[in-house]
Amino acid sequence: MEAHPHATAPSDAPALGSLPVEPLLTAEFDADPGAVYERLRRIHGPVAPVGLMGVPVWLVLEYREVLEVLRNECLWRRDVRHWRARAQGLLPPEWPLLAGYEVRQMMFMDDEEHRAVRRTHHASLSPFQNARTPEGWELRSAVARYADELVALLAAESGRTGFADLGAQYTRPLLLMVTTKLFGCPVELGDELVMDLWRMLDGGPDAAAATARALAAFTRLAAHRRARPGDDLTSYLLLADPDLTDEQLGRELFMNAVYLNDITGNMVLNTLLEVLRGNATVRRSLSAGQLGETVNRAALANPPAANLCFRFAARDVRLGNYWIRAGDAVSPSAASAHRDLLDLGSSHMVGSTVSTRAHLGWGAGPHQCPTAARELGSLIVTTAVGRVFDHFAQAELTLPADQLPWRSGPVVRGLRILPVRYGLAAQEPTARRLDSPQALVAPQGEGHTRGLLSALRRLMFGGREKGAATDV
Ligand code: HEM
Repeated sequence: MEAHPHATAPSDAPALGSLPVEPLLTAEFDADPGAVYERLRRIHGPVAPVGLMGVPVWLVLEYREVLEVLRNECLWRRDVRHWRARAQGLLPPEWPLLAGYEVRQMMFMDDEEHRAVRRTHHASLSPFQNARTPEGWELRSAVARYADELVALLAAESGRTGFADLGAQYTRPLLLMVTTKLFGCPVELGDELVMDLWRMLDGGPDAAAATARALAAFTRLAAHRRARPGDDLTSYLLLADPDLTDEQLGRELFMNAVYLNDITGNMVLNTLLEVLRGNATVRRSLSAGQLGETVNRAALANPPAANLCFRFAARDVRLGNYWIRAGDAVSPSAASAHRDLLDLGSSHMVGSTVSTRAHLGWGAGPHQCPTAARELGSLIVTTAVGRVFDHFAQAELTLPADQLPWRSGPVVRGLRILPVRYGLAAQEPTARRLDSPQALVAPQGEGHTRGLLSALRRLMFGGREKGAATDV
């Protein structure tokens, strides 16, 4: 990257709005984003102009440039008020992504305001991040217990051998149960807000209305926990910053819920896929307790946050072969940057010598996934994946890996379904031993779990026939 510390763009440098842009979200991108990234790199180099639902933005494609944008917060701002097209009223009025960007929460703050909210998040997430604290131990055992309950439900619905979609029948409900537990949601609230999160994340025409409803639901949850504090993230956020209003807290919860449900859920599915399509080496490494390495491989091959949310140029700057004007929107592509680490002709990387830890799956720089959230996310992913292979004596994909349907949104890339043929182990696996004083942990009421499961069954089957699981 060339350094032009105080330059302004030369007048003959093409402006974003004047360039022909290729729409990013096409059927080709859905099926094979790698081919799209390669073509854009060939034509434009490290940075390309693309269209996102009719709005031109810069997509940053190469590792070095992506890292620069993620790390240099003085130049690449998060606050949406820096976005020139928005400030000048140039965005289409019903632009479906705007509602999400207008939610003022930590991700879209800069400097000290951002650091203060980040400290609050860190303080409130820390108790849950590992099994050495009562909260962390309980959350981890709850994840394992929910996983066991969902497999038991599967066995009751479909038998000890059969077919399952590990997305709709395992991963998504599991993450909803974890969210309900972590946030301290009453079940009725969980039902409502989770359905709206999914609608919002699909970015459809009702995204704005769904965002508004989800925000209102999280605001109600904030008020509920202010009145009745518990051992949950919502209450701990309030403890860490008692000045948070219900509305502010609702917005922070909203953002955490996105990471917890969509991003973490996709990480579970991607890791399951990495194992299912893996050879004997992958399965052996799993049983040797190297699940963390498999998670890194999956994050490198298919980062769930594929193209990160916008940054806005603080001033004119040259990046790659273009001049980015002050206020232009830039999306750093972790998925494309990963292609510089490895030749991902196949997403499967057994035998690779490249460190899987160089991936940008957690982001980088001041807005990267907070340490406590990363620990928590890893804990959920490894427990959820580990439990599947504890229960299943046999599991194989029922579609060739290259025919699995993916959902490629502006930010997230995740599997729509993960269909498997499974056979449960003859013996029920024993619960994994967790090394924390049990005396510190209050037992979970059976009624609570039953209520949660029946709510989830409604979500999963939507009043339709058994087994006709909804793909959301
Ligand atoms: C395996 C699961 C996870 C992955 C792959 C992941 C990935 C990421 C990435 C890539 C970012 C940076 C986004 C950017 O720079 O635009 C991020 C930020 C963030 N993540 Fe995670 N995340 C995961 C789990 C979680 C969980 C479980 C939570 C909380 C419950 C969480 C909370 C956050 C927060 C609050 C931020 C914003 C940080 C900031 O703006 O300063 N994440 N995550």
